[in-house]
Amino acid sequence: MNKIYVFGAMAILLLGLTYCSSSKKAIAAAVPKTTYAATLAPVIADKCSPCHIPSKGGNKKAYDNYANVKADIDEIVRRIELNPTDKGFMPFKKSQKLAADTIAVFKSFKDDGMLEN
Ligand code: HEC
Repeated sequence: MNKIYVFGAMAILLLGLTYCSSSKKAIAAAVPKTTYAATLAPVIADKCSPCHIPSKGGNKKAYDNYANVKADIDEIVRRIELNPTDKGFMPFKKSQKLAADTIAVFKSFKDDGMLEN
């Protein structure tokens, strides 16, 4: 009799664990990752234009391409987190920092593994 209870308890525990871990995976999959093409490129096209967008006449380092943004992400995040009066602040000569949720897009691109698509 005791063995049956123990077995039953273990089976319920196992089922519970399986259920929990699969529902966690489902939640993780439901939160879309920040990717260059889908999320970051439009922000850069808006906020870093024209200077960093060659097709808009910009002659600074091109950030309309994934490879450059990926290579420079640490420097990009460092500069957009500076204050407008600090040397090196981006976007250049603007009197205000980017909005916190815009800065967060650059950071989550990095945290999500710098995916292109
Ligand atoms: C009005 C023009 C202008 C805008 C808008 C602008 N930048 Fe810049 N950016 C510059 C100039 C000029 C330099 C070169 C001077 C310097 O390094 O501070 C530069 C340099 C940089 C560098 C260093 C590049 C290198 O060669 O190492 C980074 C990183 C950068 N910008 C990021 C950004 C980001 C991110 C944005 C948008 C949020 C942005 N900039 C918006 C003008 C601009």
